[in-house]
Amino acid sequence: MKAVLLNKFGGRDQLYIGELATPSPSKDQVLVKVKAAALNRADILQREGKYPPPKGESDVLGLEIAGEVIEVGENVQNVSVGNRIFGIIPGGGYAQYAVIHKSMAMPVPENLSFEEAAGIPEAFLTAYQALVWLANTKPDDKVLIHAGGSGVGTAAIQLIKQLGASCIITASASKHSTCYKLGATLCINYKLENFLEVIKSKYGGIDVIIDFLGASYFENNINSLNKDGRMVMLALLGGGKIESINIASIVFNRLKIMGSTLRSRDLNYQIKLTKEFWSFSESHLKTGAIKPVIDKVFHWKEVQKAHKYMEENKNIGKIVLTIS
Ligand SMILES: NC(=O)c1ccc[n+]([C@@H]2O[C@H](COP(=O)([O-])OP(=O)(O)OC[C@H]3O[C@@H](n4cnc5c(N)ncnc54)[C@H](OP(=O)(O)O)[C@@H]3O)[C@@H](O)[C@H]2O)c1
Repeated sequence: MKAVLLNKFGGRDQLYIGELATPSPSKDQVLVKVKAAALNRADILQREGKYPPPKGESDVLGLEIAGEVIEVGENVQNVSVGNRIFGIIPGGGYAQYAVIHKSMAMPVPENLSFEEAAGIPEAFLTAYQALVWLANTKPDDKVLIHAGGSGVGTAAIQLIKQLGASCIITASASKHSTCYKLGATLCINYKLENFLEVIKSKYGGIDVIIDFLGASYFENNINSLNKDGRMVMLALLGGGKIESINIASIVFNRLKIMGSTLRSRDLNYQIKLTKEFWSFSESHLKTGAIKPVIDKVFHWKEVQKAHKYMEENKNIGKIVLTIS
């Protein structure tokens, strides 16, 4: 088969389409003819040699796919050849064929294309895990999502609406109108405004934060939270080291600070999350009440351009590759 390969770790110019052995499904896996794969920031880190795949998994980039099942392992009963499925995989998505565990595969709703379906799993499962499992978001909570125009951010805004909570986001100004349409109640341009000051003046404080920035926002984040506030940290786009800050509010406001990476979770955890997300979202995806936000679709021959687009922070929602 053909797959996107790497000459060596480094810039996007190291990516090329080459030949690789087609994977064969284990007893509990299905083999998928990949029609579309979506990009994630993790792909850029992996390309640079900073984020290796879990041990024993494909080192081809690509954490989420949509496609058609062409072969099933001997223990597989819930999925059949010809089914349109989508889901997250530990690696190997930028390829003509990929394997996925039978319980990680979700059926592509009829109203969605492969390109749309490929843009769902990583963003929505990450957002669902952070909002529901980790932050225990309740109706009436005020939730702050940083990078609201990101893939995960656009998923989180929609899930917050379904949970009955209200959503404040930070993002570049060009991404605000999309975030408002998806259900945000307030969008803050972090390039011009200090989000802590805006939150203090409008609300006094908030209950939950989903953070991707880390060090650069840590002090303002903890000072934005109400008593018993929760913060889930999912990335370190603003650095991982803090010189000196006052952490008193963690103690006196009884804050819970959590971190997570979905890819490092074991298979049983990921299966449970996939099943719970699917039962929460299936009907909403079918009615369009929640939907993947797809910014741009590139043919996979343009994979270098697609990585450039993400590295320039141009996307609102997901960037998808069509694979042929
Ligand atoms: N822990 C996990 O399990 C997990 C899972 C999935 C993703 N993630 C992480 O979550 C983050 C979002 O992922 P994604 O794929 O949804 O990202 P994405 O679509 O590429 O969007 C990231 C956005 O973050 C904003 N941003 C980038 N650098 C920034 C900075 N220094 N300060 C403020 N904003 C900045 C940019 O939007 P603006 O134009 O608004 O600045 C950018 O478009 C990534 O860091 C990713 O690695 C973590």
